[in-house]
Amino acid sequence: MSESAANIHKGLEGVVVDTTAISQVTPDTSSLIYRGYPVQELAEHCSFEEVAYLIWNGELPTRAQLDSFQKQERSYRALTPTLQEVMKQFPRDAHPMDVVRSGVSFLGMEDPTSTQVSREVQVQQAMKLLAKTPTIVAAGQRLRKGQPPIAPHPGLSFSANFFHMCFGSVPADEVVKAFDVSMILYAEHSFNASTFTARVIASTLADMYSAVTGAIGALKGPLHGGANEAVMHMLQEIGEPSKAKAWIEDALKNKKKIMGFGHRVYKKGDSRAPTMQKYGLKMAEYKRETKWHDIAKIAEQTMIGAKNIYPNLDFPSAPAYYLMGFDIDLFTPLFVMARMSGWTAHIMEQMADNRLIRPLSQYTGTSERKVVPIANRS
Ligand code: COA
Repeated sequence: MSESAANIHKGLEGVVVDTTAISQVTPDTSSLIYRGYPVQELAEHCSFEEVAYLIWNGELPTRAQLDSFQKQERSYRALTPTLQEVMKQFPRDAHPMDVVRSGVSFLGMEDPTSTQVSREVQVQQAMKLLAKTPTIVAAGQRLRKGQPPIAPHPGLSFSANFFHMCFGSVPADEVVKAFDVSMILYAEHSFNASTFTARVIASTLADMYSAVTGAIGALKGPLHGGANEAVMHMLQEIGEPSKAKAWIEDALKNKKKIMGFGHRVYKKGDSRAPTMQKYGLKMAEYKRETKWHDIAKIAEQTMIGAKNIYPNLDFPSAPAYYLMGFDIDLFTPLFVMARMSGWTAHIMEQMADNRLIRPLSQYTGTSERKVVPIANRS
């Protein structure tokens, strides 16, 4: 196709760019499957580690396979003394997304295998990224508060260990389960903006670390991962359940986008939101702090009534993360920790059957003209 006669697909809406065997989003039924399994069932019956294994390998692990996966993941969690020193130099007021993006980028320089692209080496790189990213997020979080980082605990699950590294203790099972469910729900979502970014970078045959560093950059934006932070700011601004309806109506009247609502693909509701709502509420009831959920419920009813626009996963995950004790600007890095499994799976899939991703554009600038030397320019 010539670039001048291009049929424009702004935002690539409706364009099918490639095949994938990793996950499928079906908007008509608001469903999401990872390797054939409905995400709700995975959240109900599996740990995040089992789901990461599934996403990379195509099958759920047996007990022996899971044991060996967990052993390896736990063995990779620690950061080198060099990276720990480098992180101490990061500006204290840096956004945690910038901290995790820079930390992950540094991991690439430390890995002597980074430019190797065999499947075996790539699975190891993916494992290192999955294991070390939470350590970077937790260390960044503690350093900016002037607290010393806490070393990973090899006896704890992925989710329990993250609480340990952030707070020095592991909360009740209800809280850890809600967090683990959020990790499962955020793990993978087909060709979303950050995953597509990772695939574009992988398609140049750049290394996995470069591809995930770019993906983290794409996830930062408020139209993508950054929405979960914006949701919590909004809930705080609303403040009380009694004010929620009027707040949303007023925002809509002023043509404001309500964060945590709407989706490019789902138009009848996000398959993941009800599961997160369920586990978030269970935790809130356990903690006897349901105010944010009450506000969220009214906001949701008002949005569906006024615009028929449904909440996406960021809407219930924001109050859940807040109740778990995480700072609001840490919410998107939590998304990074989960999506690392999906990004790395897509990078491996892209590289296994690669074609450079290079779309066309329609030029709308000045037509061709002669260069006038500077001495003759007026
Ligand atoms: N609040 C208010 N109105 C919204 C809305 C929202 N969150 N999301 C979509 N709409 C409205 C738009 O204003 C537009 O209305 P119009 O036709 O009257 O102009 C219509 O719905 C279509 O929206 P559009 O922005 O074209 O959809 P999109 O597919 O390009 O965008 C999002 C999808 C996710 C970027 C968009 O819904 C959004 O900005 N949501 C808030 C951010 C968010 O939660 N992101 C996380 C996504 S998982």
